[in-house]
Amino acid sequence: MPVADVHTRREGCDDSGMTSPRDSAFLRATRGEPVDHTPVWYMRQAGRSLPEYLKVREGIGMLESCMNPDLVTEITLQPVRRYGVDAAIFFSDIVLPLKAVGVDLDILPGVGPVVAHPVRTLADVAAIPDLTPDHVPFTTAAITALVAELGATPLIGFAGAPFTVASYLVEGGPSKDHALTKAMMYGAPDVWDALLRKIATIDAAYLKVQIDAGASAVQLFDSWAGALTPDDYRRSVLPHSASVLTAIAGLGVPRIHFGVGTGSLLPLLAEAGADVVGVDWRTPLADAIPRVGDRAVQGNLDPTLVFAPTEVMTARAGEIIDAGRAAKGHVFNLGHGVLPSTDPDQLLRLTEFVHAY
Ligand code: CP3
Repeated sequence: MPVADVHTRREGCDDSGMTSPRDSAFLRATRGEPVDHTPVWYMRQAGRSLPEYLKVREGIGMLESCMNPDLVTEITLQPVRRYGVDAAIFFSDIVLPLKAVGVDLDILPGVGPVVAHPVRTLADVAAIPDLTPDHVPFTTAAITALVAELGATPLIGFAGAPFTVASYLVEGGPSKDHALTKAMMYGAPDVWDALLRKIATIDAAYLKVQIDAGASAVQLFDSWAGALTPDDYRRSVLPHSASVLTAIAGLGVPRIHFGVGTGSLLPLLAEAGADVVGVDWRTPLADAIPRVGDRAVQGNLDPTLVFAPTEVMTARAGEIIDAGRAAKGHVFNLGHGVLPSTDPDQLLRLTEFVHAY
């Protein structure tokens, strides 16, 4: 089914007959321009909870899927068709660029990224090649195809921020406390600096590939930054995230900077170079807005509220939209990713509520 049928209804419907993502409610909100409805998309909307996703992924590994442009295109479009969300997010994973340059890693179902030889020394860091567009031809192919299919609906590209990606490389897999990662940050600052510099260089190159291929916006996911104190974030992490965000600053696309549990870090996420600051659900949006300065915000419904009765969910969503009116711009989202057991019908009701509110 052509996605154009979905998005022209919503994005391309003004009197000028415009059909460019530039005029979409999503991009207008990121720039702080007036919108006719609050734009909405969901982190992790592609994959995880959709039956049509599970069907096309049957028997195909996660990383293999991410390197198959036809599959990436199909999976990215699935939530746009189903929900009529205001933006698509490119189907991939934060560790994909590392895989592409040759790091020995896999993504295990129900576990997440697992790295065969965790990074411990300067030599380990030096062994990771920088990324060139030739490492990710499938990314360019998928985004080119997607931009043509999506028409006026914007495509969001993304990368994992240096701290969050470093956590997988140093721990060797998912971690609750990031103890080995922080031990390196505190105890081996030379290795830490080299590692975050390396990831930042890969991130910047990978985001440029996505923007060159036609992505309308990018999000830097620093999912685990909330494990850090503001001082440690400022000293050991911010300069590296800032180098990614600065490298793409002149490319004409808004940069969304998001982390989980970042109530005390919000001014620093903004300072690192964001146009839009993503807010998780633990910080009330009204408290977050003055902390991010003259920037748009994104968020922040608790992802478990989709398991509540519909009226409870929509009442909370309404409060968030009301709070968002004080911001320079507001993109509605969950405060973190869609949970795997989410009922797609409930997410459809949420989307329709946000559009109508
Ligand atoms: O947002 C989207 O819908 C686009 C796709 C996307 C995936 N991962 C697909 C995926 C995005 C944006 C990501 C980002 C990502 N990956 C983050 C940052 C966002 C966040 O949730 O905080 C992180 C921390 C990862 C690392 C990762 N990848 C984990 C922890 C896991 C396992 C848990 C899970 O999500 O199921 C993955 C695997 C992964 N990434 C899957 C998908 C669809 C599941 C893989 C499978 O189906 O086998």
